[in-house]
Amino acid sequence: MNDPYVWWNGAVMRPCDARLDPRDRAVLYGVGLFETLRSYGGRAFQLASHLRRLRTTAVRLRLDVGLGSRIVGRAIGELLAACELTRGDASVRITVTGGLDGGGIDCPPASPPSVLIHARPTLRHRGVQGIHACRAQSDTYRPLPTVKSIGYLGSVLARLAAREKGCHEAIIVSPDELVLEGANSTILARLGNVLVTPPLDGQILPSVTRRIVLEIAANAGITTQEAPIGWPNLLEAREVLSVGSVREVASILTIDGHPIGNGAPGAFARLLFRGYRQRVQRELSGSAACFRP
Ligand SMILES: Cc1ncc(COP(=O)(O)O)c(C=O)c1O
Repeated sequence: MNDPYVWWNGAVMRPCDARLDPRDRAVLYGVGLFETLRSYGGRAFQLASHLRRLRTTAVRLRLDVGLGSRIVGRAIGELLAACELTRGDASVRITVTGGLDGGGIDCPPASPPSVLIHARPTLRHRGVQGIHACRAQSDTYRPLPTVKSIGYLGSVLARLAAREKGCHEAIIVSPDELVLEGANSTILARLGNVLVTPPLDGQILPSVTRRIVLEIAANAGITTQEAPIGWPNLLEAREVLSVGSVREVASILTIDGHPIGNGAPGAFARLLFRGYRQRVQRELSGSAACFRP
C-alpha cells in the first residue's frame, strides 16, 4: 500500500524510516491494540470515543499507553496534512504495539509501546451503500471480542473468505446460531418495524457507530431493541445494516445470495445514513482548529 507518510512515535515520517525492534511483543506474541476512525475534511469524528475504547483495551492488555487526546488530535492533523488528506475523507488507524519483550510472556515490557498512525483516503458515497454479505462461523473468531486487540485473525480469515465469494462483509454467527457482528462492523436488523441489534453482552465490540445509529433511530421515532437475533430471523428481516466508523451506514442487500427484503436499500437505511451524515456535520462544524497541526 502506498502510504506517503505515517506518524510514528511522535513524528511524521516516511514509512520506510519507521523502525520497530523485531523483539516487540506485537511481533513475538501478538500483543497490541488498534482503533480505526474516519476523518471528514481533515477532522476526526468521535475521536474522544475511540480514545476511550483505546484506553479500555490498554487496561485489559496491561499496556501503559500515555496517549492524550491533544497529542493524538495534533498527530492526526499533522499526518493528514502531510498526506494531503485534509480535503476529502480518510480512514485513520491508530496502532499501539506491546513494547519490547522483557524476557518472556510473564515479564513486563522492557520499553514503552510504539505508536503508529496511518491514514488512507476513503470514498464518500452519495447515498447509502448496498453491500453483499455471507455467513461465517465464530470458531476462529476474536478471543477478546469486547476490545480492539491486534489479534484480528478471526476477522481477517472471515473477510478473506467473504471476498473469495464476492462479498464485502462476513457476518459472524455464534455456536448457538445467534448473530454476533460483522468481521469489522456492527449488524442491525429491521424486524417488523423495530431496529434490533445484538446486546453488549461481552461477545461483541462496543461499537461507536452502533451507539450513534441507535441514538439517531430513537430520535427519529424508530423503536430500537438490543436483543439476540437468531440466524433465521436475520434472513427474514426487512432490512439488514452493517455499520462502522469507516463504512458508516451500509445496507446489506444479500446474505449468501439470499435477498434481504426487496434486495435494495430500505427506508431505515436511507434515514439512518442521512441522519449519520447530519450528525457528522453537526459535530465537526466548528471543530476544525482542534485537529489542525
Ligand atoms: C468486530 C467489529 N465490530 C464492530 C466494529 C464497528 O466499530 P466502530 O463503530 O467503533 O467503528 C468494528 C470496527 O472496526 C469491528 O472491528
